Amino acid sequence: MFACNQFGGFGILCQNQRHLCFMYLPKNCRVITIGDGDLSFSRALLAHVSHEDLIATTYDSEDALRNKYTQNALDDLVNAGVMVEHNVDVNDLASIHRLPHNFADIVIFNHPLVPAQRGFTQPQKERDKSANLANRDLLYHFLKQSFEILLNPEGERLCYITSKSVKPYSHWHIETSLTRDRPYRHLGKEAFNSSIFKHYMVRKVDRDKCVKLEASDVHVYSDNTLHPIKKYLTPFSFNGDKCCSLCRKGPFTTPNDWKKHQDTRLHKSQQQYHDVWSGHCNVKYQK
Ligand SMILES: C[S@@+](CC[C@H](N)C(=O)[O-])C[C@H]1O[C@@H](n2cnc3c(N)ncnc32)[C@H](O)[C@@H]1O
Repeated sequence: MFACNQFGGFGILCQNQRHLCFMYLPKNCRVITIGDGDLSFSRALLAHVSHEDLIATTYDSEDALRNKYTQNALDDLVNAGVMVEHNVDVNDLASIHRLPHNFADIVIFNHPLVPAQRGFTQPQKERDKSANLANRDLLYHFLKQSFEILLNPEGERLCYITSKSVKPYSHWHIETSLTRDRPYRHLGKEAFNSSIFKHYMVRKVDRDKCVKLEASDVHVYSDNTLHPIKKYLTPFSFNGDKCCSLCRKGPFTTPNDWKKHQDTRLHKSQQQYHDVWSGHCNVKYQK
C-alpha cells in the first residue's frame, strides 16, 4: 500500500511492520542517477519524477550497455524524453562537467561497485584491500562531485547511496569514511524497498545477470544537517566513546571487553581497511 509521507514524497508501508520504508522524493524534485546499470532504476523513477526532472547516467558507453544487458531501459527512457548521458565516470571530472550544473535536488547511486580487476596475481587479502580502497574512492568522488557540481545550491541537497548491509560492502564504512574534511554528513539510513521501483533489476557490474536480492539500505548524505528527512532515518549509532565504529559493535562496558574486541580478527581487518583509506586520504585529499 502506498502512502504519502509528510513531505509530499512517497513511501510504502511494510506489511507486519510499524515502520515506514520510503525513498524521499518530494513533488517536483529533480533527480540525477549515477552508474545506472541497465537504466531500469531510472525508468522506474518515472513513476515518481517527471521526465524533464530526471537525468539518467551510465558508466558504460551506449554500445557497451546495449551489448552487455540484452534487456535494458534505454529506449524507454529516450522515448519518454529523459536526458540520458553515457560514459559518466565519477572519478573523471570532465565527464561530470558534461552534465548540467546545479540541476539536482537529489543525486542517487544505487549499488555502486567498481568492476573487479581481472588477471590479478595478488593474494586474495591484497585484492580485498585494493577493492575496498577503490570502492571508497568511488563513493568519495560521487559525493564530492554531487555536492560541488550537480546539486542545486537552493534545492534539497541530498545524495543517496543504496548498498547492501553485508560484507564486502559493510567493510567500506560508508557511514563514517566518506565525509572527512567535507561539509556534508551521513544523516542516517533507511531500509531500501525495491518493490517501490517497478521492474528495477539490480545488475551485475560486468555481465548480463542480476545481483542477488539481499537487505539493502539507502544511506542519506546532506550538507544541511538539519534536513527534516532526518526524523525518518536511523542514525549511525556506533560513534560513541565505548563503541567500535569500524566493526559496528558495542557499547563495550569494561576496558577488558574493549581490549578483547580489538584482538578479534574482525577488528584487525577493519582497522587495516581504515588505515589504508586514511593514509590514502592524507596523501591525496588533504586540504
Ligand atoms: C553492481 S552494478 C549496479 C548497477 C546499477 N546501479 C543497479 O543498481 O542496477 C555497479 C555499477 O556501478 C557503476 N560504476 C562503477 N564505477 C563507476 C564510476 N567510476 N562512475 C560511475 N559509475 C560507476 C557501474 O555503472 C556499475 O553498473
